[in-house]
Amino acid sequence: IPVDPFDIVIFGGTGDLSRRKLLPALYHRWLDGQIPESSRIVGTARSEMTTKEYREMAREACETASGKSWDAKAWKVFEKLVEYVAIDATNPDADWPTLKSKLSANDHPCVFYLATSPRLYVDISEALGRAGLATPNARVVLEKPIGTDLDSAREINDGVGAVFAERQVFRIDHYLGKETVQNLMVLRFANMLFEPLWSRNYIDHVQITVAEDLGLEGRADYYDKSGALRDMVQNHMLQLLCLTAMEPPNHLDDDDVRTEKIKVLNALTPITGDDAKRLTVRGQYKAGVRGDEPVKGYVDELSSDTESTTETFVAIKAAVDNWRWAGVPFYLRTGKRLPYRHSDIVIQFKPTPHPLFGEGNDAVNRLVIRLQPDEGVRLYVQIKEPGPGGLRVKSLPLNLSYAESFTVRYPDAYERLLMDVVRGNLSLFMRRDEVEAAWTWVDGLIEAWDRGGGAPELYAAGSNGPLAAAMMMDRDGRAWFEGK
Ligand code: BG6
Repeated sequence: IPVDPFDIVIFGGTGDLSRRKLLPALYHRWLDGQIPESSRIVGTARSEMTTKEYREMAREACETASGKSWDAKAWKVFEKLVEYVAIDATNPDADWPTLKSKLSANDHPCVFYLATSPRLYVDISEALGRAGLATPNARVVLEKPIGTDLDSAREINDGVGAVFAERQVFRIDHYLGKETVQNLMVLRFANMLFEPLWSRNYIDHVQITVAEDLGLEGRADYYDKSGALRDMVQNHMLQLLCLTAMEPPNHLDDDDVRTEKIKVLNALTPITGDDAKRLTVRGQYKAGVRGDEPVKGYVDELSSDTESTTETFVAIKAAVDNWRWAGVPFYLRTGKRLPYRHSDIVIQFKPTPHPLFGEGNDAVNRLVIRLQPDEGVRLYVQIKEPGPGGLRVKSLPLNLSYAESFTVRYPDAYERLLMDVVRGNLSLFMRRDEVEAAWTWVDGLIEAWDRGGGAPELYAAGSNGPLAAAMMMDRDGRAWFEGK
């Protein structure tokens, strides 16, 4: 369904996110006929560049990102929507009038996408205000990370909030735009099968894994100050936890879902003091392999003389302290340079009360929601292994593979989210209090780590992460689900 005509201004328009995600996302929505021709896309950054040069940069980026779906003819029409204006957003004398002249004089929604360092969010918002661009039709999109702790997040939220109303602020977490993440809600709330079992009564524990085989990818400056906890847990992992643990919302409206998510964040038991040693594991990769290729260790990817105790892996045993989840651990795990890229949510049910078929059988049901790659859902059930020799029980999956069930192209998360911004639909974006609640929990943990000292445990690139992560599960008589 086409959206109404809109303008979008991308700050950081020549940066990595714009080239890899934002411009290709807009191009694909155009290919699908969703973007009206009277819309405008304005890239801005500090460098002087002509619109022609910017279009060329955008073409290369979109062609690379599109693979087989690249359509040179369609690009020729699409590129007419794209313009470039050089703006140094920190300079009060920047050329705001030229930017303004590129925007439609109609009442179109105007999206300001801040794909810049978060340090600039407040400056840019204030400059937009001064330039008369923060109109009621304006929307501002903030990329993660929103700050590096609760205080800095509040500063950003206050500064941006002084110019834009909360309903105009779209704090993006691209995991919420992933098809499989959205499917999580459908799976839970559109099937009678699961919800009655979705509690401490039947669930033994939950595992959420986001494993990456990539390393730093040239982002050392940002990553070394951040680490896996701030980069992945504060946002993506906690969002997945919230969608898994939240109560059914009354409706799918903006605030109903967000209100349920924040209740989960507020119910997370703080991990402080010595508990951090027991309930968390920090790791950092050393040299190893990616597939068959040797790869450098984390510190060698930083500039040569750097020492760093930044974690590239984290495992956490979290608890959601409420009626539904009392006593059910939520094990979270994410890391770089693990053996392969896979993200899943594993719901492990309790064993049957009476082991009719003998002890030692893996007689538990698991619901494995594979977020990426090979998106799908598998429900492990016990069946009788065929054959006359006794009654042997085997755990096998009922397998729903997206690729086998649907032949349509999967839109990238940013495609969905950008169109939601244009429509003014906030439900997949984080509310101010949500971001701040997530930081409150994460800050407590960081403080415990800082006090406890200690370097992260090294693990070889290409391995399953630090041994301590396996031991954390082992102590509880459980194991990480490594099934593919
Ligand atoms: C980003 C993190 O938010 O998410 C990256 O900053 C990480 O470090 C990326 O690699 C993972 O996203 P995806 O969509 O590839 O799982």
